[in-house]
Amino acid sequence: MTNGFGNLEDDSFSRQMYFPTLIYRIECSDSANLNPYLLNLIRSERQQDSDGIVRSNYRGLGGWHSHNHLYKDPAYAPLTDRIAQAGRRISDNLGYDQNYGLTIGTMWSITNPPGSANKVHIHPGSHWSGVYYIQAPEGCGNIEFTDPRTAHVMNLPSFPKGQKRSRENWTKVNFTPRAGVMLIFPSWLYHGVDPNLTTATGADAERVIISFNMAQNKMAPSHTTKSLQQSEVSA
Ligand SMILES: [Fe+2]
Repeated sequence: MTNGFGNLEDDSFSRQMYFPTLIYRIECSDSANLNPYLLNLIRSERQQDSDGIVRSNYRGLGGWHSHNHLYKDPAYAPLTDRIAQAGRRISDNLGYDQNYGLTIGTMWSITNPPGSANKVHIHPGSHWSGVYYIQAPEGCGNIEFTDPRTAHVMNLPSFPKGQKRSRENWTKVNFTPRAGVMLIFPSWLYHGVDPNLTTATGADAERVIISFNMAQNKMAPSHTTKSLQQSEVSA
């Protein structure tokens, strides 16, 4: 005690977190069947449309990007159904208006052969975006998300060298892709993909994904689903 006043030892001291950036991770239990099925669809799509389109991919390095409406093809239902379920789970987890649903607005495939990458980008016009890994040989390129708080990134405190910072102090996060895993992240979150440096050869060397955008849309009353239990989500 100093001059009759207390100090922090006597005070309540708590840490509260606001404005978190959420990334949902789903491991698809049927990926052993789903992935070969999707791989066939994508390879056939690429045969029909070998040029594809240019977005975050480097066409000159062999990166292929399909058109953006794969979700309209009923053959992709095993994946689009899963994405729709995930959208409902996220809506419920975050307490969204149940009269609105997260629905797919665009869905596309990207294949990156060795040497190819994806530029850093965001997905304007959507609420949540995602990626499903269909083929991901070792070294095929991590996806990197960047802290959206530029003000935080530009003036970092010092941390002990050689020690991993605690997660709340990270300014980027890398995920190593694994076939059968889906990541769903806010569409405003900047991300890019490292070059494919795999030592695999032939068709097995390709990094193959399907990506998608979801936005909230008013649902017909018959489509409004029963609320899921919050406990079903382990975010
Ligand atoms: Fe993206």
